[in-house]
Amino acid sequence: MAFFNLKRNLVVCAPIEYGSLDQMVASMNEAKAEGADLVETGGNSGSKKTSLQVLKMALQSDVEFVEMEYEVASDIAIAEHKPLNSQIIVSSYVNGSKPSSEKLSNLIACMQSIGADVIKLIVEVHNIIDVAPIFHMLTHCQVPLIATAVGSRGLISQLLAPKFGGFLVYGYLKSHPIPGLPTLVSLKQTYELEHVNEYTKIFGLISNPVGHSKGPILHNPALRHIRYNGIYVPMMVDNVNEFFQTYTSMDFAGFSVGIPHKEEVVKCCDEVHPLAKSIGAVNTIVRRPSDGKLIGYNTDSEACITAIEDALREREVANGVVPHASSPISGKLFVLVGAGGAGRALAFGAKDRGARVVIFNRNYERAKALALAVSGEALPSEVLDSFCPEKGMIFANASSIGMEPYTNESPISKAALGAYDLVFDAVYTPKNTRLLQEAAEVGAVVVSGVEMFIRQAIGQFSLFTGGPAPEDVMRKLVQEQF
Ligand SMILES: NC(=O)c1ccc[n+]([C@@H]2O[C@H](COP(=O)([O-])OP(=O)(O)OC[C@H]3O[C@@H](n4cnc5c(N)ncnc54)[C@H](OP(=O)(O)O)[C@@H]3O)[C@@H](O)[C@H]2O)c1
Repeated sequence: MAFFNLKRNLVVCAPIEYGSLDQMVASMNEAKAEGADLVETGGNSGSKKTSLQVLKMALQSDVEFVEMEYEVASDIAIAEHKPLNSQIIVSSYVNGSKPSSEKLSNLIACMQSIGADVIKLIVEVHNIIDVAPIFHMLTHCQVPLIATAVGSRGLISQLLAPKFGGFLVYGYLKSHPIPGLPTLVSLKQTYELEHVNEYTKIFGLISNPVGHSKGPILHNPALRHIRYNGIYVPMMVDNVNEFFQTYTSMDFAGFSVGIPHKEEVVKCCDEVHPLAKSIGAVNTIVRRPSDGKLIGYNTDSEACITAIEDALREREVANGVVPHASSPISGKLFVLVGAGGAGRALAFGAKDRGARVVIFNRNYERAKALALAVSGEALPSEVLDSFCPEKGMIFANASSIGMEPYTNESPISKAALGAYDLVFDAVYTPKNTRLLQEAAEVGAVVVSGVEMFIRQAIGQFSLFTGGPAPEDVMRKLVQEQF
């Protein structure tokens, strides 16, 4: 390991690989520019003889840290050869069976007993719940501990390490991605781990996959903006029930819920808001500070419906019409494509505002079930393009049609769009979908899924923090990212 000037308590380390001295220097410079405090240059799997030589060199050159594998270190009795001014990191790779707290603490005790100044554990995990014993060790270990849970489900072992007392976190160079580790740049710009401490509240997105999420780049700066001591991290969760049975501490204060857990997670909540209950999907969970109970909400529904309402009101104002106090959706024919999570949020929201809901979905049985739940009507997809019982309808796409990479697709023909006053698309990647482009061309008011995204995030943020969200800051962040 090679250190740059250490100015902070938290140490950020970049593993680097190189084939030549020049490459090594270039990678070290890159790591420094991206925010690393030190670089790690490959494992030390030397023999007893080479390890003793390394110790001797350390003794002569006054290096700060020497890393040695546990088996080698215990073989050569490091306590007897310990350099005066250097600290010895003893490392061990834990793989195979699930790492229990007992197994890890026994290993740590053995490593400590041979004279380790710093202990490093690299633990293979196949489930996010297996990171919990690592947090336990970080909190209770008597010597500085570096602990890394390897794999995409182990990412939180790095992002939350400073919260639990970890000595060091790893991040990778932009030019050298390592699965399961955060980028150095994200550690510096998104998470700002130097502000994380034992009092930091943890918020996270529970989803699978989770890598695409823009939540961290939105929520973390917003939390910092209102000076709330919190961090928002992606959590790759396979089984929501196991997850909530494992992470029961008040520190885990709130969660966004993404694909595919929005419906399953309802059962994990102690209480569910009536709107979320009727939709049958929860996208936000807050651990109530007074009793630790998990309360489920759905901010998707209000987000998309208010975005549509505001756009209709704006048009009324622009046309010189004084907006009515009731919802501009009330009484309108609301044509919805899609019957998944977003579709349900739209259908229940529209029904709540007094709209007449008509549902089209690839899976017709699913459309019929949702139509029944909102006292609406389901029709087969084949008739969508010719469906025109009246003018001034609202069209909402809540299917994945048009989403990247299938950006050339649209759920409805351009010719049919002429019957609609307003067209909403829940898809937000890309921001300007083919559906929205064609709707604008035929003169409809258009509302992008990005507007829904920002509104649902603002709703979540308020629930997480118990106060108003910094809307301007969040809007600016979203505009920069989409
Ligand atoms: N803007 C936001 O804040 C926000 C929030 C949530 C979701 N969304 C977006 O909304 C869309 C749906 O998300 P979701 O959470 O509702 O997902 P979901 O629960 O998985 O539902 C997917 C929906 O899309 C339909 N679908 C998928 N592929 C299709 C295809 N090739 N042709 C026709 N229909 C297809 C599905 O029909 P079947 O029932 O036949 O499978 C289902 O109705 C996604 O693009 C998502 O990114 C946006």
